Amino acid sequence: RIPLLIDTDPGVDDALALLMAFNDPRHEVVGLTIAAGNVGLPHTVANALKLCEVAGVDVPVFAGCATPLLHMAEDAGYVHGRDGFGDIGYTPAARQPEGEHAALAILRLSHEFAGRLLLVALGPLTNLALALRLDPGLPSRVARLVVMGGAVTGRGNTSAVAEFNIGFDPEAAHIVFDAFPKVDLADWEAVMEHGFPHRDVERWLACGHPRATFYEEISRKTRQWAGDSRGDRWHSADALAMAYALEPSAALEVVERPLAVELAGHHSRGATVVDWQRRGGSPDNAAILMRYDQARFEARIEAALAAR
Ligand code: BDR
Ligand code: CA
Repeated sequence: RIPLLIDTDPGVDDALALLMAFNDPRHEVVGLTIAAGNVGLPHTVANALKLCEVAGVDVPVFAGCATPLLHMAEDAGYVHGRDGFGDIGYTPAARQPEGEHAALAILRLSHEFAGRLLLVALGPLTNLALALRLDPGLPSRVARLVVMGGAVTGRGNTSAVAEFNIGFDPEAAHIVFDAFPKVDLADWEAVMEHGFPHRDVERWLACGHPRATFYEEISRKTRQWAGDSRGDRWHSADALAMAYALEPSAALEVVERPLAVELAGHHSRGATVVDWQRRGGSPDNAAILMRYDQARFEARIEAALAAR
């Protein structure tokens, strides 16, 4: 099985992505490294542990950086709930996180599974950036890096042009895109192209399986919020990135281009600047997902929610 390491800030859509990963027979989740982002680190760690408990998996959980590298950023508690899991008041998991820091765990696991490791980042890239500063040799040991982040033509979701994961810690994103020769990217604009009618979501969630029931509860607020603000379709950013990671052959269109992260702009800080016309002569460091097989995506979500 392919070893899969997930850096994540759960987060309602992170939770669905994790369920998809746990459910895939061809991948083995070897660790969850936890970032701050959607909400503060104590919550994202507790949520990761709780989700493992609900899913019945014993994957080690490593707490990472509590703040972005340089500038404090606003979290997304207004979307995901103050605790990141819809404020349902769940009983915390009995298990504790491991003692090792997430950045060190990333490096250790990259040695343990050198050349085979699939690394998927579903939150701000702080832990990965720190790991890269500790050991710039990391990319040579990672078989593939998939990132959920960015807005490739500048239609952001956190500012006019920035997507949340990149906008939360632009310096970290810069370090990652600069260091990895190729990043497989599921950006916010691709997410917006891969929505589902709300009635389909209601049907998946009503299947009665414990994973679906838990997900139904933690996602109630975000589904309400999304219905109010984004209209008649439901989207799950991290689930799309995970589908792209688990089954790249279901990607129907991928475009490779140079991508840089804007750090300095007053209006544009945190933007992912894609050189569509390749004017700057930089290498194509991003493989941008444009279109994914929607039926495959749906099948994976449904299976993940129905798994026991
Ligand atoms: C990303 O930001 C977070 O709120 C989600 O979990 C996802 O990773 C979407 O912009
Ligand atoms: Ca996330």
